[in-house]
Amino acid sequence: ALISMRQLLDHAAEHGYGVPAFNVNNQEQIRAIMMAADKTNSPVIVQGSAGARAYAGAPFIRHMILAAIEEWPHIPVVMHQDHGTSPGVCQRSIQLGFSSVMMDGSLMSDGKTPSSYEYNVDVTRKTVELAHSCGVSVEGELGVLGSLETGEAGEEDGVGAEGKLTTEQMLTDPEEAADFVSKTHVDALAIACGTSHGAYKFTRPPTDDILAIDRIKAIHARIPNTHLVMHGSSSVPQEWLEIINQYGGEIPETYGVPVEQIIEGIKFGVRKVNIDTDLRLASTGAIRRHLALNPANFDPRKYLAEATKAMTDICIARYESFGTAGQA
Ligand code: G3H
Ligand code: 13P
Ligand code: NA
Ligand code: ZN
Repeated sequence: ALISMRQLLDHAAEHGYGVPAFNVNNQEQIRAIMMAADKTNSPVIVQGSAGARAYAGAPFIRHMILAAIEEWPHIPVVMHQDHGTSPGVCQRSIQLGFSSVMMDGSLMSDGKTPSSYEYNVDVTRKTVELAHSCGVSVEGELGVLGSLETGEAGEEDGVGAEGKLTTEQMLTDPEEAADFVSKTHVDALAIACGTSHGAYKFTRPPTDDILAIDRIKAIHARIPNTHLVMHGSSSVPQEWLEIINQYGGEIPETYGVPVEQIIEGIKFGVRKVNIDTDLRLASTGAIRRHLALNPANFDPRKYLAEATKAMTDICIARYESFGTAGQA
């Protein structure tokens, strides 16, 4: 069944678990997420970015998610629009039937330039007014996502600040978060706590204090009724990097967010954990390996099935580690 983000994250808060929010733009990703959820009895958040909507077309994204709901009617599903760049973009998704939207007012509508606080409050408040009147939840973002190790926003098609960021920008201020929530009434708030988008988060194996867990704690203490969201939460599995590079890929040394630190964040109020890169890496690794080992194969179903299996395994692991398993 289609449910709102608020319904799901209220349940998650009550029971102390987190929910991975996987980005989707094709059928294999959606089937992997749903098969993993079915196997572990987990509720699901699937999200489409602007890039996903440009790739597949909004109607296809919508109907693929509706098809998943039809095939697995016992699994609660949130259909979420990721990183909306204006109230108009969010309005379009609400019209299409999304049950949750993100208004990312931390950046201007170009998706690159950090915005003023007043701008962020204004576009987010407008979106909440519209969304709530339609029963749709809203995620806002305060602070600019960036790696505390590199000072870079990371790679994400179209979304992400340009240039070096200051530590101040990369850590959401708890007092400002409280003011933001009281002015906008968002259901969930994406915070900056040291993660960045894409595969290139950290250049060295991360230490166990790579995220600002104390900052997460302080924000949660100030706004206990707002669900916290961690973007840029891929763990960049080293085993998949090795497989990609073993079978012809060329991905330089790089590291993601250790799952243990996400679990630590969940203990202190993180409820939605955004993951895209990990499924991209797993599917690319599985396809490269299959094609290298089966050079005569030309049936896409054979290599796409390998990709689906690789992605399913990652989804199962995240549902189990975040405590989502058994909560559907
Ligand atoms: O926003 C998170 C996703 O990683 C977006 O990626 O814009 O390439 O679809 P995309
Ligand atoms: P990753 O690039 O770490 O998977 O993050 C995805 C994300 O935050 C989508 O909004
Ligand atoms: Na989002
Ligand atoms: Zn994001």
